[in-house]
Amino acid sequence: DASDRLSGKKLIVTAGGTREALDPVRYLTNRSSGKMGYAIAAAAQGAGAEVTLISANSALPVPNHVRLIRVESANELLAAVKKAFPVADGLIMAAAVADYRPAVVANQKIKKTAANQTMTLELVRNPDILQTISTSKRPGQVVVGFAAETNDLIANAAKKIKAKKLDLIVANDVANKQIGFNADQNQVTFLFADGQQIKSPLESKAAIAERLIQLITDHFLN
Ligand code: C5P
Repeated sequence: DASDRLSGKKLIVTAGGTREALDPVRYLTNRSSGKMGYAIAAAAQGAGAEVTLISANSALPVPNHVRLIRVESANELLAAVKKAFPVADGLIMAAAVADYRPAVVANQKIKKTAANQTMTLELVRNPDILQTISTSKRPGQVVVGFAAETNDLIANAAKKIKAKKLDLIVANDVANKQIGFNADQNQVTFLFADGQQIKSPLESKAAIAERLIQLITDHFLN
């Protein structure tokens, strides 16, 4: 039945938004709430999978029977994913990873001064977690990414599926305020490596999560 479709399978789900420290009291981040990733973790657990949820700074309640690892920055997220992936059957990267982090993290709180009316921050690129992980992917392991786009949704998602060597990408249009970051609903297009596209209706993030877990089960984990 539906509650044991994924029994014996180990899935890693990442969720939330990374924080990139500037000094002991400040950080750069994004508007991710973690809702989509937490819903996916709950759906995967509901389907019988053993779920590790790697959560970056989300305040949401943790779904029952899910193993939780809390991280803060992109580098911490990478380390946690690297550690969990070798024994996993799949990885679903719903976390919003900061593309850049401050080049230097100050040891003390950065002070404003009368002389400095402007301030320039130097940022450096963060590692791409999916790209890093995909290189160590074994046959049978499934890797799923997300693509939040404001324009050319399918073309941009198709580029990411190739660059990050994904099996499936979940593309959503974040220019639409009803869906995406922090919304309770979402509408997505599931795009497979072979070009197949499946468009979801506008529905709750829980329903999108169920749909995603069903697709992953049918296409990759049966
Ligand atoms: O390239 P972009 O950030 O749009 O790709 C989004 C997908 O890549 C998401 O699944 C996100 O979790 C993942 N990602 C990553 N490492 C990064 C940036 C994004 O794994 N540094």
